[in-house]
Amino acid sequence: MIPPEWSVCVVARSAAQTQAVGAAIAAVVAPGDVVLLSGELGAGKTVLTKGLVAALGGGEATTSPTFTLCHVYPTTPPIAHVDCYRVAPTDDLADLALDELLEDGAVVVVEWGERVRGLFGAEALECVLSAPALGADGNGLDEDERLVVLRGAGAAWSARRGDLYAALAASGLVPADAGEGGAAP
Ligand SMILES: Nc1ncnc2c1ncn2[C@@H]1O[C@H](COP(=O)(O)OP(=O)(O)OP(=O)(O)O)[C@@H](O)[C@H]1O
Ligand SMILES: [Mg+2]
Repeated sequence: MIPPEWSVCVVARSAAQTQAVGAAIAAVVAPGDVVLLSGELGAGKTVLTKGLVAALGGGEATTSPTFTLCHVYPTTPPIAHVDCYRVAPTDDLADLALDELLEDGAVVVVEWGERVRGLFGAEALECVLSAPALGADGNGLDEDERLVVLRGAGAAWSARRGDLYAALAASGLVPADAGEGGAAP
């Protein structure tokens, strides 16, 4: 059976709004979840994670764990924030024992998550951030604007679309259904 999935997209017009997307995700995550973040350098993956960590009670500043590879925040549930920009997926990630963290009830949040997609099961929340103004010709575009496409894959996420929609809307964002494959409407 093909696992159910859905896609929701939202435009974040500032870093604060991308943090609000993270906070909305915080409202729907559960222990053992995997959240995969994709998007080029500076797209806002860490900013989104910061909103997620803060909403779950994390007091410390959130930075890209680019050199540490993984940082576990003492949130509820704990968040293991992983950055795969520089890792050789099979070797380095095995050392992080993410399976154990997930079994122990952490939420694993992975920057450059598309690079290690195969290491996780079918069930994940995939967040793709794109920044039009970071492209080759950003003339006339708002450099603070990001499109965030959220794709819930697998049974664990199938029932959470409505709650995520509501949490995004409660933050003043305007969620919309994304087309098949996560394209913008
Ligand atoms: N709408 C927005 N959402 C997120 N960040 C924004 C937005 N507008 C401007 N920014 C700025 O873009 C930058 C995003 O940086 P961030 O570290 O989150 O990117 P990243 O995707 O984690 O990059 P890296 O791959 O280098 O880790 C920040 O400086 C932030 O202030
Ligand atoms: Mg980052």
